Amino acid sequence: MHLSPLQSRLAASLVASCLLILLYLVLFPPNFALAAELNEALPAVFDDFDLPTDPGPRGPPDAMYEPEFSAFDRSILGRAPDGVTSLTNNEPMPMNAEEGSTQNFVFALPQVSERGTEEGRLELRSEDNVSGEGNTGAGATGQEETGEEEGQSLTRRQASRKVYISANTCQQPQPIDPSKTTLDPPQLILFVSTTAANQAPGPLADKGTQDMVVFNEGAVVYSFTTDREVYIGIHAPNVSEAFSGIYNFRVVASVDSYYYSYNKDDLLLVDTDSQGALLVTHNLTDSTDPSEQAAIMQTQPYVFFAHPKGDRAVNGLRYSYCGLENYALIAATKDGRQSSLVKTSMTTRAFSKFPFAASGQGNLPKQQFFLTGLNSSTEYIGILARDGIDRGALGKRQTASERGNEVFQPTDFTTNSNRSNCALVIDLTFCDQVAYSVPSNPAFGNSTRLAEFYDAYASSMYANFDKSLAQVACEAPSSQRYSLARTCADCAAAYKAWLCSVTIPHCEDFSSTADFLQARAVGQPFPNGETLDPATLAKYDNTAAYMASRNSLIDEVIKPGPYKELLPCDDLCYKLVQSCPASLQFGCPQPGGKGFKGNYETRDPSGALRCNFPGSAHFPSAGGRAGVDWGVVVGAVVVGLLVV
Ligand SMILES: *[C@@H]1O[C@H](CO)[C@@H](O)[C@H](O)[C@H]1NC(C)=O
Ligand SMILES: *[C@@H]1O[C@H](CO)[C@@H](O)[C@H](O)[C@H]1NC(C)=O
Ligand SMILES: *[C@@H]1O[C@H](CO)[C@@H](O)[C@H](O)[C@H]1NC(C)=O
Ligand SMILES: *[C@@H]1O[C@H](CO)[C@@H](O)[C@H](O)[C@H]1NC(C)=O
Ligand SMILES: *[C@@H]1O[C@H](CO)[C@@H](O)[C@H](O)[C@H]1NC(C)=O
Ligand SMILES: *[C@@H]1O[C@H](CO)[C@@H](O)[C@H](O)[C@H]1NC(C)=O
Repeated sequence: MHLSPLQSRLAASLVASCLLILLYLVLFPPNFALAAELNEALPAVFDDFDLPTDPGPRGPPDAMYEPEFSAFDRSILGRAPDGVTSLTNNEPMPMNAEEGSTQNFVFALPQVSERGTEEGRLELRSEDNVSGEGNTGAGATGQEETGEEEGQSLTRRQASRKVYISANTCQQPQPIDPSKTTLDPPQLILFVSTTAANQAPGPLADKGTQDMVVFNEGAVVYSFTTDREVYIGIHAPNVSEAFSGIYNFRVVASVDSYYYSYNKDDLLLVDTDSQGALLVTHNLTDSTDPSEQAAIMQTQPYVFFAHPKGDRAVNGLRYSYCGLENYALIAATKDGRQSSLVKTSMTTRAFSKFPFAASGQGNLPKQQFFLTGLNSSTEYIGILARDGIDRGALGKRQTASERGNEVFQPTDFTTNSNRSNCALVIDLTFCDQVAYSVPSNPAFGNSTRLAEFYDAYASSMYANFDKSLAQVACEAPSSQRYSLARTCADCAAAYKAWLCSVTIPHCEDFSSTADFLQARAVGQPFPNGETLDPATLAKYDNTAAYMASRNSLIDEVIKPGPYKELLPCDDLCYKLVQSCPASLQFGCPQPGGKGFKGNYETRDPSGALRCNFPGSAHFPSAGGRAGVDWGVVVGAVVVGLLVV
């Protein structure tokens, strides 16, 4: 069948409308029902929402952003109804919204002529060579990039493009009396239309011509393919009387990729103590090229937010970058709040679930966040985020998502009680893979001093071993070597891993009840002078294993008092025996045998932290974290406003 252009347009419109209605019904039945009730129950309200004919009061004028209109935008503005703000590709638009109001925007697809000027601008921003291919955005490689001749593909680009709309709630109404409110303010709602008949999408516009997405924790992402102008409405719902204040949000439309996004890529919790925690990112590169690794070690691509879990201030904003900037108690960003509580640095320390799991793979760059000055016995959330604007120096042309903000899934952690005599140490010189809590005493000194004490001891022990190893014929011809499979370097590495884990006890609160922990120094006073009550003390035999630390220097110099030790993994000992010459006479106790209990522990097959080794961390359990709703991640919401 051959249709004339007009006929095919009509047919396609019809099909598109039907599909839209269908999709709408399938995806948003409850909201649909709610909106319909509103119409019937409150006909008087109707006019208030009818934006095109009622350019009544909106957000305060200071929120209005005056874009520098290019010739193209002006022509759009000319046609747009009053009170409708024009959006520019990849430019965030800040806006206030009072409860019950809808702010409307229009986004015109950048056309070929504008693409030229846009490329010019991008070229100025980063002095990179721009290939003829144009858009580098990950999302721009849609159906239009078919590798045809440039002229042909340009017409097709004009015909339809993928549009990415994203928004973040920066500010929301606050409870008048926080102690009396258990509710959180409602989320903003995004409405999108590509129909000229619905240029002001919103709660009371024709539902058949628009799509609706409720923000999730202060963020929304929505994409579709269209050849039309895109009409956007952001609606601030009515808020209960327990709250006051307005909403403020930023919305961006892009033809490249999402400018604001949120993702399920979590931080790894290494360990906590009574006032702090250590969290690390994933490997920032897989490359083993030393120059590339060195370049990444010079950057700090991520920022970090932390907030007490029990405080409601970030509720409803956890996926919003500007929301976290405004409300999170600790913001380790440029000029952020209480950022002195977070020491951010790069590390190549390896973290793994099992001892030696990462050996031989090279230690890859990561960013670490070392928090101090937190309250004891408090649950916090830590949120990793990325501010693309600050990363412009990477040298390559950035896509919208690289320029924009990305927020990652929160990681929960709980600080130890204020009685705890365990303190986190990181960045040791010799035992460079050690990053966990060790027995401590505030009177001894800060974390740096503590790290130096333990590191110096391990290092001095290693010097003795090194002398013994030097007696072994390491550099001898293979016929005279102690093993063909193992070298002295293997032996030295295995010894170092074992030594650091044995001489630097991994400390846990004395109040921890896990049965695999070993109580130490139970007869000695805590740093505050208290001693264990006789009933508790009576549970422990009067043996050195309980009465003292493994290394008496700890009790003599640091005097931590009673603590529990996460014992070294037995693998560390087996590896040592396997890797080193028999002449060094290393041996290991067997589980259940003499000398095992109180000195080693077997590892948990699932990777839960049950014994200590360099690079140990609190990996999330295999089933994932409970209670975090990640129903929607970037890319999951792709509902078609169909191409015509
Ligand atoms: C331009 O791009 C090409 C290929 O991507 C690359 O080989 C070349 O080094 C680049 N030139 C500059 C000046 O960046
Ligand atoms: C929102 O608040 C306005 C003003 O108080 C009121 O007239 C309207 O009925 C409310 N709308 C809804 C949906 O409750
Ligand atoms: C980092 O890379 C190492 C080596 O490839 C790997 O064993 C380890 O699991 C990675 N760590 C993380 C946190 O992804
Ligand atoms: C610690 O608690 C106090 C009192 O509740 C609070 O004001 C302060 O913000 C908290 N500090 C941190 C870092 O959580
Ligand atoms: C530790 O916390 C308890 C209650 O949580 C409090 O009574 C005590 O004063 C605190 N001690 C110190 C040294 O802060
Ligand atoms: C720790 O204490 C030493 C002095 O003992 C001081 O030089 C250093 O700056 C302190 N470090 C921190 C992180 O406070």
